[in-house]
Amino acid sequence: MIKTETLKIVRYPDEILRKSALPVEKITEEIFELSDQMTAFMLEHDGVGLAAIQVGVLLRLFIINTTPFEDKPTPMTVINPSVIDTDGVADEEEGCLSFPKLYLHIPRARIVRISMQNVYNERLVFEAEEFLARAVLHEVDHLNGVLFIDHVKPGESAKVTEYVNSLRVLPVSC
Ligand code: CO
Repeated sequence: MIKTETLKIVRYPDEILRKSALPVEKITEEIFELSDQMTAFMLEHDGVGLAAIQVGVLLRLFIINTTPFEDKPTPMTVINPSVIDTDGVADEEEGCLSFPKLYLHIPRARIVRISMQNVYNERLVFEAEEFLARAVLHEVDHLNGVLFIDHVKPGESAKVTEYVNSLRVLPVSC
């Protein structure tokens, strides 16, 4: 059973973020429900993408807003994606809902093509460019337990160390 009533974002360093998600075998009512709730959650939190693993569900599914620069969002549910090919390289800033307030310049492909299933069980090829390609690649990484900090350039690694250290809970002495 997937619990969807109260979605909660999983933040780093929760170890689930390092796990590899499992394929969605069948698009059931539960998957539909999860997709709906994740979509609402992503839009509520001003995200461009949200992977199921980020709400504690270990499935190869993510939501992406395909019109991030328009007033009206066009969310799409991406199920069991695989990267067909990529082209070019772009180095832009990105963030992650599992790392509040951390923004890093990450080099990624400028264009990506993925094969995927949508929530209606249709198989299709989706091509994304620029900012959207970045978001797609970021979400595909999540499905494999890979995080944006893994791609950090040497110039910004101190920023990551500082961020990670700031998350450490100090031992309570009593
Ligand atoms: Co993320």
